[in-house]
Amino acid sequence: MLDWTDRHCRFFHRLMTRRAMLYTEMVTAPAVIHGPRDRLLGFSEAEHPVALQLGGSDPAELAQAVRLAEPYGYDEINLNVGCPSDRVQSGCFGAVLMERPSLVADCVAAMIAESPVPVTVKCRIGVDEQEPSEVLPAFLETVAAAGVRHFVIHARKAWLQGLSPRENREIPPLDYPLVIAMKRRFPELTICLNGGVGSLTQAEALLAQGLDGIMIGRAAYNEPELLLEADRLWGEEPPRDLAAVLADMRPYISAHLEGGGRLHQITRHMLGLFAGRPGARHWRRILSEGAARPGAGLALFDEALEAVQPRAA
Ligand SMILES: Cc1cc2nc3c(=O)[nH]c(=O)nc-3n(C[C@H](O)[C@H](O)[C@H](O)COP(=O)(O)O)c2cc1C
Repeated sequence: MLDWTDRHCRFFHRLMTRRAMLYTEMVTAPAVIHGPRDRLLGFSEAEHPVALQLGGSDPAELAQAVRLAEPYGYDEINLNVGCPSDRVQSGCFGAVLMERPSLVADCVAAMIAESPVPVTVKCRIGVDEQEPSEVLPAFLETVAAAGVRHFVIHARKAWLQGLSPRENREIPPLDYPLVIAMKRRFPELTICLNGGVGSLTQAEALLAQGLDGIMIGRAAYNEPELLLEADRLWGEEPPRDLAAVLADMRPYISAHLEGGGRLHQITRHMLGLFAGRPGARHWRRILSEGAARPGAGLALFDEALEAVQPRAA
């Protein structure tokens, strides 16, 4: 998620789930080609499995981005056909591509030709005045014919005019039955649903209706402890408990600080921990006020922890 997630967030999330696929925020193909590549694409081995999400609409550029990303060892490459922001529309990236399935097919064909790992697509159910029950199956059919086997569908339309990106994640109504119907119509495709899923119980109920996967965005970021139970969806025990997650963040934080990084670059992803528990406000306040200050380190992290989990006397 642009401006929210990064490699530090993924490292933290990966401590809580071995099985969930983690996605990068969208990185545009031109940024991969011309930008600070290591900073945009670098990640730690501990984060696997990780999908790189690319944005773009030029098949040659996307193919080049896939080629340049290959040495970084991503486990999946995902094309963004869902982002409604103006910035993105002017470059013809993201949700506006729902109107151009054959261009998306050309893009993914070019990407697949360069990619040693699966190329997947994240899309909406439609945009603007499109009729989702007509355009979504046509879109899936066209893009699947170019070789994509795995789709993540944000189960709401994007309005390209008049709604902000934030409103476009809240106002257009969710249509889960349509996404479930797509799995029935295309049983050979992997169909994952995204949008508005706030708990693993809800995810489990949707999986029981035949879907292959559930992508959780805001709830996982805002209440990361949700991820501690995620591996149960695969019938597995969580990899560690919260105390062990916090303990395992310490060496990661130390290494980051020693490399010249700031504490808040990591702890900003952890502010949602302890939600609803006594002291959670102190945890958030201590870290949000102090972690960006020069010199803030593990002592501040411990102070915040102390506020939320006072040691037994
Ligand atoms: C701050 C923010 C940034 C986002 N950036 C991306 C992005 O880079 N790529 C993408 O496919 N979706 C992005 N999204 C959309 C989410 O992936 C997801 O589709 C949407 O929030 C609905 O799912 P949720 O209700 O589980 O959050 C972003 C969402 C937020 C809140």
